Amino acid sequence: MAKVLVCFYSRTGNTESMAKKIAEVMKGEKLEVDVKKIEDIHVDSLLDYDCILIGSPTYYGSMAWPVKKLLDESIKFHGKLRGKVGGAFSSSANIGGGNETTILNILNAMLVHGMVIIGESSGDHYGPVSIGEPDKRALKCCERYAKDISSLIKKLF
Ligand SMILES: Cc1cc2nc3c(=O)[nH]c(=O)nc-3n(C[C@H](O)[C@H](O)[C@H](O)COP(=O)(O)O)c2cc1C
Repeated sequence: MAKVLVCFYSRTGNTESMAKKIAEVMKGEKLEVDVKKIEDIHVDSLLDYDCILIGSPTYYGSMAWPVKKLLDESIKFHGKLRGKVGGAFSSSANIGGGNETTILNILNAMLVHGMVIIGESSGDHYGPVSIGEPDKRALKCCERYAKDISSLIKKLF
């Protein structure tokens, strides 16, 4: 069975709620899913997963430093994450506050690793975003994204 890691950094719980929703839906798709705080992840464990989804609050238009730290540590496995499915999601305070640039910065690193990324033709195009605490709209986007990624995983693994 394909293994999925949904990891996140969250100081005030908004990104964490998104991570939990995504994980819940993917578990419902009969995938093996671990949900972890990014601080609790050792970079070596990234090798254990077929799919790695990363959530970060938007900090100054980009990812929070614990997320960047993990990505920089992942140089240890450069080339070894190739072909894994990747994805990202973000919570910001404001519309236009940089949640999409945050996601794209995470996806950028995943692409450099050779990971497989899927966009959304409807919903949030680059990955789910939330303004503050995820509302009904944001949770729906998390659900759609989780289902889309799940079907990609089932095609690939
Ligand atoms: C250091 C710092 C920088 C932030 N920068 C931005 C920003 O550039 N744009 C924005 O919309 N919100 C910004 N915020 C607000 C957070 O992105 C927002 O409150 C988010 O929902 C927090 O997510 P969390 O509950 O998962 O910690 C910032 C917050 C902090 C603490």
